Amino acid sequence: MSSNGLTESEDAPATQKQVRVWVDGCFDMVHFGHANALRQAKLMGDILVVALHSNADITAHKGLPVTTEEERYKMIRAIKWVDEVIEDIPCYTSVELLEKHNCDICAHGDDFAANADGVDSYAAVKTAGKYREYKRTEGVSTTDLLQRLLQMTQQHLCANEVNRYEGRSYPIMSLQQRVLSVLACKYVSDVIIGAPYTVTESMLDNLKVDYVLHGQTPVYPNKDGSDPYEAPKTRGIYRTIESGSALTTDVILQRIYEHRLEYIRRNSAKEAKEERVLESLKKRRDSARVANV
Ligand code: CTP
Repeated sequence: MSSNGLTESEDAPATQKQVRVWVDGCFDMVHFGHANALRQAKLMGDILVVALHSNADITAHKGLPVTTEEERYKMIRAIKWVDEVIEDIPCYTSVELLEKHNCDICAHGDDFAANADGVDSYAAVKTAGKYREYKRTEGVSTTDLLQRLLQMTQQHLCANEVNRYEGRSYPIMSLQQRVLSVLACKYVSDVIIGAPYTVTESMLDNLKVDYVLHGQTPVYPNKDGSDPYEAPKTRGIYRTIESGSALTTDVILQRIYEHRLEYIRRNSAKEAKEERVLESLKKRRDSARVANV
């Protein structure tokens, strides 16, 4: 009996155990396919726990990642559906690992995930009935992005040259893809689709903007040489902020440029691995068919 005269069960509304959903992966060069995966996984329970592999493990299983461990951890922590991040997790998901972190189910996209040795990384959690699947987002993956970036660097140009288009960043993703990426950030409330490069007086008035912020990276002028932030600067509402990270698209391009042979090998190894997996799945299906005859 508690102080208010009620038994424990009458005192508090029956507390249902919160479902903790586990998602693990590399999450290299975090993209909107990753964000959409985490959005779907969060809908499967209450608490979303994202576990990331170390760079050493990724190198052994897939090849050298482009982003560092710290960068990947920070990027996943900034996604709005993520509640907890666990660092340095092995590439094989065991039931013990889930239990250690008090997770009820493990979720992954509907693509086949195999280790470097071709073994299903989720075999154990599937057998234990703890495996759930969400739909993989079509048209984007780290391998895909890497391929696009490699093509840019293979044109015998250095990263800084290929990334500047009339003084602005050349977009690697479409507008729709970039909008989805930014919306996934937990600090973002709204996105203006197709906002002009210059912040105009009418935009400041119509959107009732109090401050306009920019990081420490250089601001590229308009074609006519004018400053795109002239209006907020004149109003005294322009501020620069410190992001705490030196990562930029140029830095990513530079890394790929410096290690391009390793990345070419990584992507070809991924293609070859996918072919092997498809081949072994086909063999398994064929032998099951023969056994059923
Ligand atoms: N994922 C997804 N949709 C995508 C890409 C990834 O749903 N377009 C999911 C995967 O199924 C996995 C998680 O995101 O559950 C992390 O995947 P990861 O292997 O890190 O990302 P990929 O982009 O698939 O990387 P890679 O191309 O190197 O395999």
